[in-house]
Amino acid sequence: MEKKELRVAVVGCGVISYNHLTALKTTNGVKVIALCDVNAEKAEARRKEFSLDAKIYTDYYEMLDSEQLDAVHIATPHYLHAPMTVAALKRDIYVLLEKPMCITTEEIELIKAAERESRADVTVCFQTRYNKANVVAKKIAEEDGIVSAYFTLLWQRSNEYYTESDWRGRLKTEGGGVMINQAIHSLDHLISLLGKPIAVTATKSNHAHRGVIDVEDTCEGVVEFEGGLRGNFYATNAFIGASRTSIFVKTKNHRLEVKNSLLYVDDKLVEDTEAAEHLGKEVYGNGHPTLIAKFYAAIRAGEPMPIPTDSAEWSVRLLLAAYRSCGERVEI
Ligand SMILES: NC(=O)c1ccc[n+]([C@@H]2O[C@H](COP(=O)([O-])OP(=O)(O)OC[C@H]3O[C@@H](n4cnc5c(N)ncnc54)[C@H](O)[C@@H]3O)[C@@H](O)[C@H]2O)c1
Repeated sequence: MEKKELRVAVVGCGVISYNHLTALKTTNGVKVIALCDVNAEKAEARRKEFSLDAKIYTDYYEMLDSEQLDAVHIATPHYLHAPMTVAALKRDIYVLLEKPMCITTEEIELIKAAERESRADVTVCFQTRYNKANVVAKKIAEEDGIVSAYFTLLWQRSNEYYTESDWRGRLKTEGGGVMINQAIHSLDHLISLLGKPIAVTATKSNHAHRGVIDVEDTCEGVVEFEGGLRGNFYATNAFIGASRTSIFVKTKNHRLEVKNSLLYVDDKLVEDTEAAEHLGKEVYGNGHPTLIAKFYAAIRAGEPMPIPTDSAEWSVRLLLAAYRSCGERVEI
């Protein structure tokens, strides 16, 4: 692509749009020309906060048809990810898509088919792949030889977290609970360490949010990977302590733990992996600027996307299989 300034829009001006707009502020050669939210006040508030010369839309499709966009960042509720991505791809607009990629396996196929037809591509926002602790852990693990890995995600989510949102906690709009929303980054790490998942045996339940959500707040399971490795997970939004996430990796000679943004090797903190300032909540890490810079560099160079759908789809396939499992082994 020629060296012109790329024209960018953000749809969904809620919590995580802060990370996207902060990153876009320091990305060379891009201009945010439009913001879209069904709630115009939220888009207006972001326009002011970031001093943007951007047009406000409340209708995504009108924005796509009215502006000459090169890329759109999709940061809307989960059920909108697939239709909004397909609409952008049909217009040859690149997509930086917030996780999860989508909420059904049919939608995975729709997005990939639209990508094949389009001159544009999709990057899925697994920005924690770029957290220094994760990068260093993966390097040590791969060099030493991975034996197994598992994660525990112990989060506290109040009833209000769900009741104050018009999309969280509902199967139709969120597509699931703790797995599709909070644990998906950890699933993505498990897959990046152990390879392609081929089967899962899992159980899910709603321990502490009965009558409030119609999705799981807790899920645990065992995953089999191509090549014979196995991994475990336990994820809950019903924890009563302070929220924490740990990924444990057993390698031939070491035990690694990435606890939030810190890396421990054989129980010793590896000092220099402590994350610098995080953007927004600590769990988001500071990967959005890195990922977004890589996304635009790839567009300009005509190179493959930094986190393509071929890689991002597996976390969705795995968690949907875990939902189907009900304690039985299910192939992915
Ligand atoms: N990568 C991460 O670490 C990370 C962190 C938080 C959230 N997320 C993801 O980002 C997405 C948004 O999450 P959030 O926490 O910002 O949610 P949010 O509810 O704060 O924001 C969503 C916004 O989308 C708007 N919206 C809803 N329907 C719309 C439509 N049809 N057209 C335009 N706008 C519409 C809402 O008005 C709201 O402002 C989700 O997919 C979530 O999983 C990712």
